[in-house]
Amino acid sequence: MILTKERIMDTSKVTTTRLREMKQRSEKIAVLTCYEYGMAKILNEAGMDVLLVGDSLGMVKLGYENTLPVTVDDIVYHCKAVRRGNSRALLIADMPFMSYEASETEAITNAGRIIKEGGAEAVKIEGGKEIASTVEALVCAKIPVMGHIGLTPQSINQLGGYKVQGKNEETAEKLVADAKFLEKAGVFALVLECIPSELAQEISAALAIPTIGIGAGPRCDGQVLVTDDILGLYGDRQPKFVKKYMNLRPQIIDAVKQYCSDVKKSEFPSKEHTY
Ligand code: KIV
Repeated sequence: MILTKERIMDTSKVTTTRLREMKQRSEKIAVLTCYEYGMAKILNEAGMDVLLVGDSLGMVKLGYENTLPVTVDDIVYHCKAVRRGNSRALLIADMPFMSYEASETEAITNAGRIIKEGGAEAVKIEGGKEIASTVEALVCAKIPVMGHIGLTPQSINQLGGYKVQGKNEETAEKLVADAKFLEKAGVFALVLECIPSELAQEISAALAIPTIGIGAGPRCDGQVLVTDDILGLYGDRQPKFVKKYMNLRPQIIDAVKQYCSDVKKSEFPSKEHTY
């Protein structure tokens, strides 16, 4: 245990079981995305419960328009780096688009690589009832699975845009049913993305497993955001649900401009930086 001014920080390893216990004692779960070694060390030091190697890395790190082009190799590569910097947080990695849909065998093979080579402790897959049997197969293969429903970015071409889901009675009922199917299939936690707050509250109350919200209001058992968004590093798309805790981009530009000018004016390196 580390005693800080604000709270007592438990430094013991976070596990899937621990997340469930946190829900039972109404302790909120803090999740951020992470794609590299240095940030993994910082996020651990700051006391994050879960690090997610999200396929959002395709947009924020690789410059793709959406998450669809991300490959299992991309996830494994970034996951290895995060694993080297991770100590306390539970490490979860996304299974990218088309790495689990074709067959259960392929899903197990790809998830196996993410765990074995990447060093993740669990995988996350998007979808409802239609992927319940895949969840069962992965869990049978000793791979913990986190679910993800609501706005599922890998279905962007079917959804027709990044829109709030479950706004009418029929779609809301389907999401509640999907959540129950996934819990029964064995997911240890469930991401709820971009759904009305009351619906997220209803789903969270109906499940024993924790829900992790993103654009789903304050009644979820935890929250997740993209680290580059909260730090103001990624400026391309800023959904309403993002809270920017820092705006690093202009600060970085200023620092880099200063370095550039110092070099050009021969003001760097000075005596103190010279052997
Ligand atoms: O890819 C991702 O980063 C995600 C979270 C933001 C939920 O799926």
